[in-house]
Amino acid sequence: MARHRKPAIEGIPRLLTTVYEKACRLVVESYYGPMAGRITARLSTGVILDLGTGPGYLPIEMARIAPNIRVVGVDLNLGLIRSARRNARQAGVSHRVRFETGHAAGLRFADRTFDRVCSTGMLHMVKDPAAVLRECCRVLKPGGEAWIFDPAKVASGADRNRYLASLTPVEKLIFRCFHLYTRINPPNRYSRWQIDAMVAAADFRVVHLSVTGREIEMVLRKQ
Ligand SMILES: C[S@@+](CC[C@H](N)C(=O)[O-])C[C@H]1O[C@@H](n2cnc3c(N)ncnc32)[C@H](O)[C@@H]1O
Repeated sequence: MARHRKPAIEGIPRLLTTVYEKACRLVVESYYGPMAGRITARLSTGVILDLGTGPGYLPIEMARIAPNIRVVGVDLNLGLIRSARRNARQAGVSHRVRFETGHAAGLRFADRTFDRVCSTGMLHMVKDPAAVLRECCRVLKPGGEAWIFDPAKVASGADRNRYLASLTPVEKLIFRCFHLYTRINPPNRYSRWQIDAMVAAADFRVVHLSVTGREIEMVLRKQ
């Protein structure tokens, strides 16, 4: 497997929960809605797994768009999972969307459980991306697809002034510290050959793969 710089912290730290959630809330219509439409296209029924679900807006939008699908969202951060449950209740979809804590490289689900696996903005955060892709493949039904996008267009999509205005003074301070931290420790960036090596380590057929600068889009089908 190609070597990559492992992130110092895996997952969003507890302290950043509300700071991240507030940014996500601003891009529900512009980002999660269209993304949910892409991922659920050609899937009228079944169960989707969303890895690194954050505050759950992608599963919620998928449940809204596709009334016969169910979604399970998994994240390392318990605070975000609690927000996701609350957001699903408020959106009236909590009977079809379930959220739980878990590690994307070691899922508790049986082999061949899901019709589709998706993930937005998690890949650059994980320590072992090849293990994550192998887990995606294991939990997918044969012919099922993994739709993986990285990074999520949250920070780049949210209106910065509206976002800063929504933060409390403490959250603003946390945001500034995190901003400084990411300048010192920039997020992980994969090269094309690293992506190819990760994909080759799992039993997938590539349906679509594009790597443009930092942006990765992949649709992989289990054989
Ligand atoms: C940048 S956020 C993206 C959240 C959401 N998918 C979105 O588009 O807004 C990445 C998420 O992945 C989660 N995460 C990172 N590593 C993980 C892992 N190994 N297993 C599960 N979740 C993980 C983080 O806690 C965080 O909530």
